[in-house]
Amino acid sequence: MENNLFKSTAGNAAERAGNKKIKNNIKNDIKNFSHTKTVSDAELENKLRPLKLTEYIGQAPIKNSIEVYIQAAKKRSEPLDHVLLYGPPGLGKTTLSIIIANEMGSNIKITSGPVLSRAADLAGILTNLQANDVLFIDEIHRLNPTVEEILYSAMEDYTLDFISGKGAGASNVRIPLKPFTLIGATTKAGNISAPLRDRFGVLGRLEPYTLEELSAIIKRNAKILNIDTDENSVLEIAKRSRGTPRVANRILKRIRDYAEVAGSSKITNEIAKNSLNIMNMDELGLDNIDRLILNAIIDKFNGGPVGVEALAASIGEDTHTVEDVYEPYLIRLGFIARSPRGRVALIGAYKHLHKKINKKMAEQLSFYEE
Ligand code: ADE
Repeated sequence: MENNLFKSTAGNAAERAGNKKIKNNIKNDIKNFSHTKTVSDAELENKLRPLKLTEYIGQAPIKNSIEVYIQAAKKRSEPLDHVLLYGPPGLGKTTLSIIIANEMGSNIKITSGPVLSRAADLAGILTNLQANDVLFIDEIHRLNPTVEEILYSAMEDYTLDFISGKGAGASNVRIPLKPFTLIGATTKAGNISAPLRDRFGVLGRLEPYTLEELSAIIKRNAKILNIDTDENSVLEIAKRSRGTPRVANRILKRIRDYAEVAGSSKITNEIAKNSLNIMNMDELGLDNIDRLILNAIIDKFNGGPVGVEALAASIGEDTHTVEDVYEPYLIRLGFIARSPRGRVALIGAYKHLHKKINKKMAEQLSFYEE
C-alpha cells in the first residue's frame, strides 16, 4: 500500500533532498513528539499496574491464549503477532499491553489514534522502534485514514511505503523497519476498517470483571498502597466498581484518603460507608451523572426515546462521554436501552430511582426487556 507520506508536511523538502533527508525529518519528528512516551520497567508510572501475566487478575480467555503466543514467539525469537484488544474503557487494555511487552522482554511505546494526526508522526515512531518492540496505539479507531494506511505495510512487511514528491518527479520510497508488534486498543471495534482489522493476528475482547475478580484486585492494590482492609469493605468497593478495575482503584484511593484523615490505617466498614456517601455513589456504583441521565430520560423526555445528543445537551455533558463512559454500564444494568429512535429508560431504572410507572408504560417497556 502506498502513501504520500509527506504530502501535507515536508513534501517539497523531501523531494529536493531525497531519502536521507526524509529519514532525518522522521528522526526530528519523533524527538519533538512529546505525547509519545517510552516506557521501560523502571519507568512505569503506575505502581498499581501488574507487570506480569501471573499478577494480572481476570480476563482468563485472553490471558491464557496470550501466554501461549508469547512463549511461542520467544522460542522462535520473533515478535509477537499484532494484537487488537477491544472492550469498554478501564478494563486494563493498556495494562495488558505493558505486561505483554514486559513478558516479551521488549520496550513499549505508548501513543493514541487522535495524537497521531500526521503520517510523519507515525513514520517517526515506527522508524525508531527496536527489534521486537511493542507499539501500543490506544483508541486506534480514531486514526485518520492517511495515517492508518502507513500501518498496512508496516504491519504486513515491516516496511514504510510511500510516494515522495509530486507529478513526474514523484518516486516510491521504501524504508525497512525492525520487526515489531502493534497492539491496538479500542472501545469501538466496529469502527475499525476491515483492512486494518484483518492485519491483526490476535483479537482479544476484554469483559467486565466479576465481583470476585474485583475484590482480588482491590485486596492486591490495598496491599501496595499500604492499607488494611476487611472482607466486607472490599466487597462494598467491588460492588460499586461497575465491573471496572479503574473505578475500583479510584474508589480505593479516595477511601484511603478518608481513612488517613480519620487517623486509621485500616479501611473499616464504617470508613468505607462514610467515604462512599461523600462520593455520592450509590450501592450499584451510580454517581450524580448516571442519575442525571436516568432522571432526564424519565422526567424531561417522558421515559424516551430521546436522541443521545438531546439527552447529553439537557444535562450539560459531552455526547461522547454519555455514549462511551456512562451508557455502557446503564445498559448492562438493564436501566436503559438504545433503540433506533433513541434512548429509553427501562423498568429497572424506575425501580432504582423509586419512580412511579403506570401499567401501560410498563407493558410497552416489557418489549425492550427481552
Ligand atoms: N489493576 C488493574 N487491573 C488489574 C488486573 N486485571 N489485575 C491486577 N491488578 C490490576
